[in-house]
Amino acid sequence: MSQKVLVTGANGQLGKELVELFTEKGFEVYGFGRDKMDITNQAQVQEMISTLKPNIVLHSAAHTQVDLAESEPEQAFLINAYGTRNVAVAAEAAGAKLVYVSTDYVFNGTNDEPYNEFSPTSPLGVYGKSKLAGEQFVRDFHSKFFIVRTSWVYGKHGANFVKTMLKLGEERKELSVVADQIGCPTYTLDLA
Ligand SMILES: NC(=O)c1ccc[n+]([C@@H]2O[C@H](COP(=O)([O-])OP(=O)(O)OC[C@H]3O[C@@H](n4cnc5c(N)ncnc54)[C@H](OP(=O)(O)O)[C@@H]3O)[C@@H](O)[C@H]2O)c1
Repeated sequence: MSQKVLVTGANGQLGKELVELFTEKGFEVYGFGRDKMDITNQAQVQEMISTLKPNIVLHSAAHTQVDLAESEPEQAFLINAYGTRNVAVAAEAAGAKLVYVSTDYVFNGTNDEPYNEFSPTSPLGVYGKSKLAGEQFVRDFHSKFFIVRTSWVYGKHGANFVKTMLKLGEERKELSVVADQIGCPTYTLDLA
């Protein structure tokens, strides 16, 4: 029998890729966007996960607007921290493995060499703090979890830096972009 996989944030750029790839690989996939499963609604999350009884939960739903998070911290923590707690609690009760997609924003960005699993975290902004709080809830409430810290995600779905540059490249002769940010772009298909 094929494994049941539940994807949160299934309308996002990574969520869509996860649904497509896992379906292609023969898993029984249930992709839920905010419309079907709002992770901040604890009763709904509990109901959906306990009814479906997935083997694996791929948790990619998040408040991902880094700048906006600074002006609406309650919303960022509600989704990234408490929403993740709701998913972790329900996945644990259903006996499902949990994959939580986290971020390089849990670090302060001052390292001059690559980060690893043992690098100390020290987020500078609301987004990173709220995602780190989500990580902690996963550790507190789940027993079979994976925390995947990725960075600068791009792919065929959704808006991202690569797509924006390709579009502007077609429209303009010259482009100017900020030169003070260094990152490692991650392709959604590789990540999925
Ligand atoms: N994008 C990056 O560069 C990046 C870098 C590092 C880590 N990550 C992490 O990677 C994961 C996937 O990111 P992504 O790039 O695919 O982001 P995305 O395209 O913004 O997708 C996130 C999805 O989560 C959904 N969502 C937001 N609040 C929700 C809620 N309360 N209940 C259910 N769904 C909700 C959003 O739905 P709406 O459209 O309705 O808001 C959106 O479809 C996230 O956990 C993110 O923190 C992303």
